[in-house]
Amino acid sequence: MKVLVVGSGGREHAICNAISQSPLCKKLCCAPGNAGIEAVAECWPIATDKVSEIATQAQAQNIDFVVIGPEVPLSLGLADELTALGIPSFGPSKAAAELESSKSFMKDLCTRAGVPTAAYKRFTEAEAARAYVHERGAPIVIKADGLAAGKGVTVARSVDEAIAAIDDAMIGQVFGASGAEIVIEECMEGEEVSFFALSDGKTVKFFTTAQDHKPVFDGDKGPNTGGMGAYSPAPIIDEAMKQRIMREIILPTDAEMKKIGRPFVGVYYAGLMMTKTGPRLIEYNARFGDPETEVMIPRLKTDLLALLFACSKGMLDGVDLEWHDTAAVGVIMAAQGYPGKYEKGTVIRNLDRAGQVEGAVVLHAGTKRNAAGEITANGGRVLCVTATAATIVEAQKRAYQAVDQIDWPQGFCRRDIGWRAIARR
Ligand code: AMP
Ligand code: GLY
Repeated sequence: MKVLVVGSGGREHAICNAISQSPLCKKLCCAPGNAGIEAVAECWPIATDKVSEIATQAQAQNIDFVVIGPEVPLSLGLADELTALGIPSFGPSKAAAELESSKSFMKDLCTRAGVPTAAYKRFTEAEAARAYVHERGAPIVIKADGLAAGKGVTVARSVDEAIAAIDDAMIGQVFGASGAEIVIEECMEGEEVSFFALSDGKTVKFFTTAQDHKPVFDGDKGPNTGGMGAYSPAPIIDEAMKQRIMREIILPTDAEMKKIGRPFVGVYYAGLMMTKTGPRLIEYNARFGDPETEVMIPRLKTDLLALLFACSKGMLDGVDLEWHDTAAVGVIMAAQGYPGKYEKGTVIRNLDRAGQVEGAVVLHAGTKRNAAGEITANGGRVLCVTATAATIVEAQKRAYQAVDQIDWPQGFCRRDIGWRAIARR
């Protein structure tokens, strides 16, 4: 099979590594890829939002199967364009991807399907939104409807903070059109977990779990980021809880998607809050998580390409999901200043040495080769150093051993990735 992976992050590097090792893969391409992905795939310089260009090129290059990584091409209808050209792909249609791209669509669907989630109300007028906040009090959560690159959410601890967030989104328009409509919701308290399940439109199968670390500094301090590291599996989810989440959250959602004529083909990434009264949905993503994928895929024993292809063809029922009996820890190395301003183009050395640590793999999240052929930083989150081992403690040790091999003075990382799972043992 000739396979195209769409995306340029650590998630896509993990996916490309696994697919490149599949006996079913004859050729692997990636649009646009990065300096790490280059080692296993032919990279095409096409941005992920150029969906028509990607589809046209896929057809011209006789691609047999496309794996769509990020949310933007999904929300722009890449899967639909590929379907129109007769090219199968992994990832939902534009209509089904609204589960992620429109918070109000997701909330309405959950209400109809009886999926436990935070109470919410939609607003298009700032005045009414402010009045609602005064009525409900704090803590309260303000969200821009639509995709805002993970930055559209404010968990406001005071009414003033909530009012400021409303004004930013609706009057300041800091999220552009994404903030024209907002959702105000009840604040849920508990531990967060990322729960993944595959659907082929007929069959739904549990994939696995992970936990992300959003705040930038150790001890979960500082502003939120796209994720500073992750581990998998999440020990908070035992077999009984897994079944409960499938029964109360994933399966009713999947049934409702079918019922409204938007069958979901791809991966449900449910962001859950484990509250005192049970698991409740924070949000759905219609794709694999980043950095969660970097710690899930190295644990997967089943051939990833065979699995995703079966999913795209409505044949998930026939595939057995098998996992290595390991835990994985992934540490993000980011450019100093992230999630604020940071420098690009700084040189990173000794990645080979890091990759030689037992169980470790260096996944590139935002890298580029410079004219001299050196690996340089090309984003905020730059690397994800992942290690697997029999235990989470050993996996964490190996991940930091690998991190410590890397020579990149302009980078930084958290030193406590995995702490929650380790504390739980
Ligand atoms: P999102 O961009 O929807 O993933 O939200 C970002 C983060 O905001 C989540 O990971 C949670 O930590 C937090 N969050 C979102 N909604 C809620 C809620 N209703 N209650 C508490 N925390 C929330
Ligand atoms: N782990 C956060 C995300 O993928 O959205």
